[in-house]
Amino acid sequence: MKAAIIGYGKMGREIERILAERGHEAALVIDTDNAADLDARHLSGIDVALEFTTPATAYANIRTCLENGTAVLSGTTGWTERLAELKQLCRERNGAFFYASNYSLGVNLLFRLNRELAALVGRLDPACEVRIREVHHTQKMDAPSGTAITLAEEVIAGLPGRRGWVNYAPGLSHATNRVETPEEAGADRIVIESVREGAVPGIHSVSYESADELLELRHTIKNRRTLALGAVVAAEFLCGKRGVYGMDDLLANS
Ligand SMILES: NC(=O)c1ccc[n+]([C@@H]2O[C@H](COP(=O)([O-])OP(=O)(O)OC[C@H]3O[C@@H](n4cnc5c(N)ncnc54)[C@H](O)[C@@H]3O)[C@@H](O)[C@H]2O)c1
Repeated sequence: MKAAIIGYGKMGREIERILAERGHEAALVIDTDNAADLDARHLSGIDVALEFTTPATAYANIRTCLENGTAVLSGTTGWTERLAELKQLCRERNGAFFYASNYSLGVNLLFRLNRELAALVGRLDPACEVRIREVHHTQKMDAPSGTAITLAEEVIAGLPGRRGWVNYAPGLSHATNRVETPEEAGADRIVIESVREGAVPGIHSVSYESADELLELRHTIKNRRTLALGAVVAAEFLCGKRGVYGMDDLLANS
């Protein structure tokens, strides 16, 4: 596979290593210093572009790939209010687009367990309190994490009377839907707590609590390798296909 890496940061560098290990070629590497090279000429002959940049740049990068007929996979978080637009563009152009807020196998199993648990709790104890907590390294640009938002959306779909989420993120002025205290949330909002510390690659937990019991799902990423490996496996899956895909499609075919 002839790959392009868009965003040569922590993920881009890890992806480059995994591409080499799996016998692929990183034929084009784009970062801020050569961002203008993301064009038809340089994308020509690329099988899949892997995009891990910033919330402010992901949309335009993915759009450029789709407009040039290049299959593109992205994992950039914090911009997904415009994701539907790009999925639509991909369908109109008969292109190929893969997006996941988290490429780790364990987190995607967590998503599945959480979906099932939310549906069960929705029937057995719909009034129970649900809290989500995520911990990441201090350089992370978005809050809450894309993974925490996916977890919250699954809870909202499963539990009656939940209408949205808020973010309790002390000290993070850039957080979306931020509240100053968890109590501000109201019973119909799920509280996502965001913590930024050290070099933590990612911890997510979902807790379901009633007066007498506490049930918690928790996932810890031990290193970034698992995320980069998941992205490269997804790029292999996307290579040669047309359509819009996500981790459920990949796992269903594994
Ligand atoms: N989906 C997942 O599994 C997953 C896993 C890890 C990180 N992420 C997300 O991926 C993104 C990148 O994470 P990271 O840890 O590699 O961050 P990082 O800050 O280490 O790297 C981002 C890189 O993108 C570059 N960049 C910025 N604008 C650019 C542009 N216009 N064109 C090309 N490159 C540009 C930056 O210079 C930097 O090198 C973040 O949004 C993060 O939340 C997702």
